[in-house]
Amino acid sequence: MKKHYISISIIAIIFFSFILYKNFISNNEFKEKKTIQVDGKYNIGKRIYEKYCSSCHDKKMIEYATAPPLGGITKRRNKEWLYSYTRNSYQMYKDGDSIAIKLRSENFGLMTSFPMLNNNKLDAVYYYIEKEYEKNKNTE
Ligand code: HEC
Repeated sequence: MKKHYISISIIAIIFFSFILYKNFISNNEFKEKKTIQVDGKYNIGKRIYEKYCSSCHDKKMIEYATAPPLGGITKRRNKEWLYSYTRNSYQMYKDGDSIAIKLRSENFGLMTSFPMLNNNKLDAVYYYIEKEYEKNKNTE
């Protein structure tokens, strides 16, 4: 009788280990798939940001550098404002835009104009900025 219990237990243990092992494998496969996924918009934005913006704005989008950090900016300003500001901030200042005037009064240097950045490119840049900010804001 005792022997029976032991062999049943052994079979049960083997059975459950097998199930656990299978779960472990499929979880790992799932994780890998998630990290391999390529976010094209993020990559385009990253390239533009590193080429045109990161010389003055923080790469982690959190700290003040030569210019203010951009993390969360799409929640503080509307899209039209952001796009015209990026293309020509000085023009907005001259046209009397109140936010542009306030920013100028904080005495940072003057921001370069980027008239060549079309809507698609700016979509990607601001997408990258917010993704990067989400990634970094909890690690600081
Ligand atoms: C030469 C330095 C420089 C570069 C390069 C630069 N900026 Fe700026 N940026 C500034 C400064 C300085 C300010 C603060 C306002 C001012 O004085 O013009 C600013 C302000 C801003 C603001 C307004 C922030 C707010 O609080 O409303 C946005 C948005 C912005 N920059 C986006 C960008 C983007 C996007 C790029 C790249 C395409 C970029 N900047 C490249 C210097 C720069």
